Amino acid sequence: MEIFEALYTTRAMRRVSSDPIPGDVVRSMLDAAIRSPSGGNSQNWRWLTVTDRSAIGVLGELYAEAWVELNETFYKGKKEAAEERGDEATKRVLSSSQWLADNFEKVPLVVFPFFRNDPSGASIYPGVWSMMLAARAHNVGTTLTTVLGIFKQKEVADLLGVPPDKGWQNAAAITCGYPLGKWGLAKRAPVQNVVYEERWGTSPGWSVDESLWKPTAQG
Ligand SMILES: Cc1cc2nc3c(=O)[nH]c(=O)nc-3n(C[C@H](O)[C@H](O)[C@H](O)COP(=O)(O)O)c2cc1C
Repeated sequence: MEIFEALYTTRAMRRVSSDPIPGDVVRSMLDAAIRSPSGGNSQNWRWLTVTDRSAIGVLGELYAEAWVELNETFYKGKKEAAEERGDEATKRVLSSSQWLADNFEKVPLVVFPFFRNDPSGASIYPGVWSMMLAARAHNVGTTLTTVLGIFKQKEVADLLGVPPDKGWQNAAAITCGYPLGKWGLAKRAPVQNVVYEERWGTSPGWSVDESLWKPTAQG
């Protein structure tokens, strides 16, 4: 797969089938992850893959609870506001997120990246994104989720046997599976809306009206 196609179309693929992901594909995703950079090349990470049905069932219950908590706190009123504004994009994200909360136990693979001794917490994210891009190249859909880490860090650590005294922090739970939906170009606010040139607040002297990478006729 061409790199720009992967960069432009790796989306939150929440709706996935429960078909297992072959071991060689999982190995390729993780081997790509650990080729990524980390501060000082410290590689202070661990990647925990979970496929066990009963563990994923428990994670699904925790995820559903965490999702409710998110909607009662940070996301409070978000759905109603989106409905009032007729904001279809936010409504789609919320309904797709709800699908994952309702169906988490069907996901065939969840990958938990952990990090420690990293004051910025930034070293884990190149690896996370590399893993998601490698998954995309294998037609495996992924979703980077953080809601479990926000509300259920301890419960997840206990379930997965993470030692409590070694400083490991969970960065995300990445759900992985073969897509039920279609890959598509990520829609975003135009680049010139969020880029400044030379000084804060100075718009660049250029604009990009349409995505610079476009899907081919074959999709
Ligand atoms: C740091 C981070 C945390 C996220 N946490 C969640 C989450 O807990 N649950 C979820 O369903 N999606 C989560 N997402 C996925 C985003 O909602 C999604 O990527 C975003 O809406 C853009 O949609 P797209 O990837 O389909 O273009 C997260 C994404 C990021 C980058």
